[in-house]
Amino acid sequence: MKRILSGIQSSGTPHLGNYLGAMKNHIEMQKDHECFIFIADLHALTTVRDPEKMRSMIREIAIDYLALGLDPDKTVFFRQSDLPEHSELAWILSTVTPLGLLERAHAFKDATAKGMKEPSTGLFTYPVLMAADILLYKPDLVPVGKDQKQHIEIARDIAEKFNNTYGEVFPLPDPYIPDQSAYIIGTDGKHKMSKSYGNVIEFFADEKTLKKQVMSIVTDSTPMQDPKDPAKCAVYKLYAYFATPEEQKTLADKYKKGGFGYGDAKKILLAKLLEYFAPYRQKRIELQSDLGYIDTVLREGAKKARKVANKTMAEVREKTGLNFK
Ligand code: ADP
Ligand code: TRP
Repeated sequence: MKRILSGIQSSGTPHLGNYLGAMKNHIEMQKDHECFIFIADLHALTTVRDPEKMRSMIREIAIDYLALGLDPDKTVFFRQSDLPEHSELAWILSTVTPLGLLERAHAFKDATAKGMKEPSTGLFTYPVLMAADILLYKPDLVPVGKDQKQHIEIARDIAEKFNNTYGEVFPLPDPYIPDQSAYIIGTDGKHKMSKSYGNVIEFFADEKTLKKQVMSIVTDSTPMQDPKDPAKCAVYKLYAYFATPEEQKTLADKYKKGGFGYGDAKKILLAKLLEYFAPYRQKRIELQSDLGYIDTVLREGAKKARKVANKTMAEVREKTGLNFK
């Protein structure tokens, strides 16, 4: 059975981009993979500075995953900061990581281009911590959205650097980016759906918020009576992820025929989202009333993760000479 590993930051309410690009795949993969999924709270520290918010966001994302069907008996589900090994390995890896490799990373360049004042060193070395997250568990595949591909490539480069310097420890991880879910466009119809663009649809939000977000999807100005091209419409594209082929055809026909407005399409999308997520929303409410259970799941997950992480760290200490004999 192939081992997969992936993480998600606890830095906000998950949106359809996170679900279709990451969470849904993670959950589906637990059927036939050995899965490690963790909450990247150390990464979230690069943007979240309020301790109360930090605590609640960690729990919230854990609840989201469990509500969506993550099964802690099948998946090792844990919190990054519960394992000091992540930070420890990140430091060791940073000592073999060429500066130029990080200077080329898109995420840091994007954050500064968006006007982030005083970007931290942590944001700059973010890919090194991510490499540590991955390499500690020696996964075969790292399922992520397309936007994270470069980070996986950096992790491979760092692994190679380490192996070349000290001898083989880390197998090179491969990204796993399913085609149909690779890149979800936001409600602005322009950028990828992302918290940082404020163009998200939060499937666990209350109905009023969800409606507002769906209704805010930007469409073109084709008049109501004219035929429209479904392939060019963000509303249709999102609908297609959740609808059966027949349902997709029915909506596509309405677009092509004309006399059907984008407002109507949005209402159909909203109804579909509410229908699709209804059982998960219900499960979420149940989980929210049992925080003790959530904490136990994460603690037990950390114990299982530590077994694997410790083994890798022992090899790293041996190779680097950080152990006494
Ligand atoms: P955000 O951009 O909102 O901060 P994150 O960077 O926390 O989202 O992403 C968490 C996971 O969700 C990653 O695996 C990422 O690839 C995936 N993801 C986020 N946004 C999208 C999107 N618009 N399309 C596809 N996958 C996405
Ligand atoms: N950087 C990822 C994101 O923003 C989260 C993440 C941290 C991650 N460490 C990881 C994903 C290791 C996969 C593997 O989505």
